[in-house]
Amino acid sequence: MQKSQISRTALTCAALRARYTEMPFAREIFGYLQSYHPAGTRAISSMLAFGDIAFRRVSPNRYSQLAYVEGRYCSTSDALSRVGACHILEIASGLSPRGLCFDNGRVYVESDLPDIISQKKEIALQLGAKHLHFKALNPFDLESLLSVGREFFQDSDLPIAIVHEGFLGYFPDSGKYSKRTAIRNFRIFLQEFSPNGAYITPDLTFRKKKSPALKLLGFLASSIYRIRLYPFEDDKAALTLLKEEGFSAEFLPNSHLIQNLSCLKNFRHAAVSAAAHEYRACLARLSC
Ligand SMILES: C[S@@+](CC[C@H](N)C(=O)[O-])C[C@H]1O[C@@H](n2cnc3c(N)ncnc32)[C@H](O)[C@@H]1O
Repeated sequence: MQKSQISRTALTCAALRARYTEMPFAREIFGYLQSYHPAGTRAISSMLAFGDIAFRRVSPNRYSQLAYVEGRYCSTSDALSRVGACHILEIASGLSPRGLCFDNGRVYVESDLPDIISQKKEIALQLGAKHLHFKALNPFDLESLLSVGREFFQDSDLPIAIVHEGFLGYFPDSGKYSKRTAIRNFRIFLQEFSPNGAYITPDLTFRKKKSPALKLLGFLASSIYRIRLYPFEDDKAALTLLKEEGFSAEFLPNSHLIQNLSCLKNFRHAAVSAAAHEYRACLARLSC
């Protein structure tokens, strides 16, 4: 598989987890990636090493916001635990370790674009995860989403949770490939396969203030990764979109999770705590 075929954003998240956290499977996954994509992983590791030197001293609070990668993961997992026993469809799972940590008889389907999901499957199998299902899926395509439902969740005995993190923020509010289209498709999926299921994501939050350093980082990131982020104005804007698309939703508190983040040994506790609202998970259910 060529470097260009695997998402650089997913690779970067995997590198951040391996470098700054003790999250399960983070180092193992990155180890496999280093052997599959030596040039790509080296470039990202060098970029992070440069960031360590350039930003850790100059702007330690902003630097500490790299904790988001573990913070959003834990917020999402916490929201999942509130739903209780459920089957899971993870959208845009990339190289996330979450699926590998579930092995208790639930159906867990990981999905992403074709190249990265086949790469993830290969790594997961080498790590012994035979319980997971992997599916190439673009959730903007409603028919593909519903066909995943028919393949894995028809007559489901448990509620289904649709989960994603680090996905929706790249898409605008309206249009064919928009947050609205994805959320609408998730609603149709849940109506069809699991009316008592849930939709969980930390992607609907926003950054209150942007320092010049963060603006510069945003500019560099969008240039390097050719991505653009479309954050919401505020919580209300996110909740309104969910409501208009047939969900009732709430942002879950996550400050109690901070002290258990393994990345705290690398980042400033106070700064991580102050930014916790930026990676809260939203738990949404179908409105009656
Ligand atoms: C920032 S990464 C996050 C990956 C993973 N959730 C994590 O936290 O590490 C974004 C992911 O979205 C996936 N993605 C982008 N556009 C997509 C689409 N239209 N359908 C499905 N996945 C998509 C990318 O392939 C990539 O894996």
